[in-house]
Amino acid sequence: MNKQILSARLTLTRLALHDWELIHSIYSNPTLMKHIGTVKSDEEIRNNFEKELAPWSIESTHWLTWIIHETASGNNVGLISICTRDLEKPTAEIGFIILEAYKGKGYATEAIKLIIDFCADTLGFKKFIAVCSEEHKGSRRVLEKAGMILDEIIPENTQIDGKWVNDCFYSLERSG
Ligand SMILES: CC(C)(COP(=O)(O)OP(=O)(O)OC[C@H]1O[C@@H](n2cnc3c(N)ncnc32)[C@H](O)[C@@H]1OP(=O)(O)O)[C@@H](O)C(=O)NCCC(=O)NCCS
Repeated sequence: MNKQILSARLTLTRLALHDWELIHSIYSNPTLMKHIGTVKSDEEIRNNFEKELAPWSIESTHWLTWIIHETASGNNVGLISICTRDLEKPTAEIGFIILEAYKGKGYATEAIKLIIDFCADTLGFKKFIAVCSEEHKGSRRVLEKAGMILDEIIPENTQIDGKWVNDCFYSLERSG
């Protein structure tokens, strides 16, 4: 579980204590949070961070997070997380954030494909889901490029900074 996960250009490492500054800078950045939710207080960010440092198993209710590094430079480029949503047909929700400086290089798509392969092959998940707002064209494109299918759009499903947004629900099934 703590081993690195590798793709052509990316190295994923399990979230660790030394990632605090990166995590704080991501969750307190209004641009990165624009389509995710209201920017949280330092205390809430720290509490979530500490929850995610706890040991994880498929029965856990907290998110399992990896930091995404660009293998060539070693730089942090973002994060990707999963959270178990169903145990009967093991299903994981995927969340992801790429830093502004690394957008548009295909890293989100590459990281999602990598994590789907890892979670299916190593953790036994059979289904993956992801949710994003209808207006978040970049995220929708990424999910489609990663092979996910749009199942439904639920109107006014989430409130972000006081504004109700329609949510797109994507999924992908994996056998084996
Ligand atoms: C959305 C996000 C994940 C994209 O990451 P990324 O590494 O740039 O994504 P990729 O390079 O793999 O792919 C982006 C795709 O979306 C497209 N795209 C980006 N912005 C777009 C827009 N406004 N309208 C239409 N397409 C858009 C790109 O052209 C590209 O598609 P292409 O390869 O066919 O040209 C990243 O900007 C991000 O983390 N944003 C902030 C956090 C966030 O919103 N996370 C998602 C939560 S649901």
